[in-house]
Amino acid sequence: MALITTPGNRTVGYDDVGTGLPVLFLHGFPHDRSLWGPQMGGLATPVRTIAVDLRGFGESRGPAVTQIEEYVDDVLAFLDERGLETVVVTGLSMGGYVAFALWRRAPERVRALVLSDTKAPPDTDEARAKRAEQIALVEEKGSGALADLLLPGMLGKSTRASHPDLVERVYTMLARAPIAGITGGLRAMAARADSTATLETISVPALIVVGEEDVLTPVADARALHAGIRGSRLEIIPAAGHLTGLERPAAFNHVLSEFLATLTYQ
Ligand code: MLT
Repeated sequence: MALITTPGNRTVGYDDVGTGLPVLFLHGFPHDRSLWGPQMGGLATPVRTIAVDLRGFGESRGPAVTQIEEYVDDVLAFLDERGLETVVVTGLSMGGYVAFALWRRAPERVRALVLSDTKAPPDTDEARAKRAEQIALVEEKGSGALADLLLPGMLGKSTRASHPDLVERVYTMLARAPIAGITGGLRAMAARADSTATLETISVPALIVVGEEDVLTPVADARALHAGIRGSRLEIIPAAGHLTGLERPAAFNHVLSEFLATLTYQ
């Protein structure tokens, strides 16, 4: 567990475990870096696993964001501070939106992309209206009320039926998300660019992973990413929902390790 301060007096909370090819993990909404616990030091390929808290979540602090690009500012400042020139960028859901924006801004920093349970299109008008309702809810009733609303979609039906411990753990993570982080994330996601045209620009190796039971970014979204990114791999993980790496860590780590091995040993 560590903290660094980047220019503009922002703090970034992170974990950095192991040595080898650096792999950066970006969590979704409204998560924190603990999402990636099973991946930190848990991969078969010898790699350096680095998970950061996006601004406003976990231990990361700074002015409230309104754009996904501000998360990118922090990630790039973090990489500079840590002397990391290129990394494999792994993003889940909102972390995937950040990964697309990072690729557009600084493709030379991206060794490869891992896109877990995410999608390229922007919000629809209906999705934006829901974000506005969620901002109002969290400002009035706090993070726990949003956690109650979001929890059912976060985990697959198999996990919800058989892993009450994980349900509890995810609820705790959602409910402790700071209000400013949540409202910033909602505004940034509502305003995010369409990344569909970005897909054909991706010229680094790409792995797309999705939980078969994901209802927030279903398999169809992952198939669209796979069709759009030339030469990408698609892995569909059974009995997992939206948080694939947490719900089926062994299966997720296996496909991720295999992919990373192709980068390490080529
Ligand atoms: C996430 O897990 O990051 C969210 O489901 C993304 C979203 O709300 O679009």
